[in-house]
Amino acid sequence: MRTILVTGGCGFIGSNFIRFVLAGNRDIRLINLDKLTYAGNPLNLADIEQDSRYRFVQGDIGDAVLLEQLFAEEQIGTVIHFAAESHVDRSIQGPAEFIQTNIVGTFRLLEAARKAWLSDSDSNHRSPVTNHRFLHISTDEVYGSLGETGYFVETTPYAPRSPYSASKASSDHLVSAYFHTYGLPVVTTNCSNNYGPYQFPEKLIPLVFNNALQGKELPVYGDGKNVRDWLYVADHCQAIWSVLKHGHLGETYNIGGNNEKQNIEIVHAVCDLLDERVGLLASGKPRRTLVRYVKDRPGHDHRYAIDAAKIKQELGWQPAMTFEQGIRKTVDWYLEHSDWISNVLDGSYQDYYQRMYGEK
Ligand code: NAD
Ligand code: TYD
Repeated sequence: MRTILVTGGCGFIGSNFIRFVLAGNRDIRLINLDKLTYAGNPLNLADIEQDSRYRFVQGDIGDAVLLEQLFAEEQIGTVIHFAAESHVDRSIQGPAEFIQTNIVGTFRLLEAARKAWLSDSDSNHRSPVTNHRFLHISTDEVYGSLGETGYFVETTPYAPRSPYSASKASSDHLVSAYFHTYGLPVVTTNCSNNYGPYQFPEKLIPLVFNNALQGKELPVYGDGKNVRDWLYVADHCQAIWSVLKHGHLGETYNIGGNNEKQNIEIVHAVCDLLDERVGLLASGKPRRTLVRYVKDRPGHDHRYAIDAAKIKQELGWQPAMTFEQGIRKTVDWYLEHSDWISNVLDGSYQDYYQRMYGEK
């Protein structure tokens, strides 16, 4: 049985990924190392907690002693590294944690894998011949901001513009350095904006869902015309699995939804679906009327758009879900999981919301 260490498995994408892997593979053991920050929620995996192929370890990827112990006792052969501070607005409010987890934490994880997997002679010969894999999950935000045209390809120069994207860019460079310097068997993925079940409601889609359901204002930054390329999270999980199985060592793969939307289009889509599912607001008005244009995010990247030709050509992956299907599934999932939402919207979320938007 192969043992995979997943970091950050109690977060949005990590928890979707763990469920996806356990559902499709009998012969895999998963160790989920998660610090349980505000974004990590064990409830995301409540349904698989008792699965004998699954073990949860609460801990920090920056804890070198814990990592060394885990690699030895679990004979870790594969790492899939999701753990990160992931929200741009929080990185603007306080970048320190982003440096600590995304950069220093990734460094500690790379070191632990190097010590466990490579002998000194491997490192000297720079020959990544093992069947181990270190899959680093990153973002398209490392490439910076596009104008009205063009796409990010794997060779687009890095130009991060927020503390979040700068810290992820830094971690990508460290991963690449461990491949070239030590021969660590790494692969990196850079993915566009994900949406779907279990996303923390500080991010656009679940935040808009939650506010619109409650009849609260919907804060749209700037003119609402910034563009993101949205990918349903299950498609991301499938892409990660393809890269793990067939991706080439030392390579990076861009993953995208081929689905560019302006933020205001996303907000309208969620509002319209909610109107359809639960009826108009008590005032008789449609939920679109809740939109409030607010001060723009500092350094707000204008447009992200991924050219995912490489992963399609080399690994045969492409998104299965259209945006219209995916957003419907997402809205329905949130409607059916109101206890998950109320659990997540605790006091610390209310404090964050007040700091960020000036109201509870
Ligand atoms: P998330 O914020 O929902 O979850 C992050 C998880 O990491 C949480 O469970 C948290 O407790 C854990 N964590 C944080 N610091 C830790 C530490 N020091 N040690 C151990 N665990 C720690 O994030 P997400 O949206 O699921 O993103 C996962 C990864 O995918 C991140 O690396 C992110 O950069 C990348 N990514 C996200 C998106 C997106 O749209 N969400 C897109 C592309 C790439
Ligand atoms: P977000 O979900 O934070 O993802 P990212 O910044 O990583 O792309 O935001 C998506 C887009 O939505 C981004 O352009 C910022 C915008 N946005 C708003 O307009 N209002 C909000 O309240 C939030 C959270 C985001």
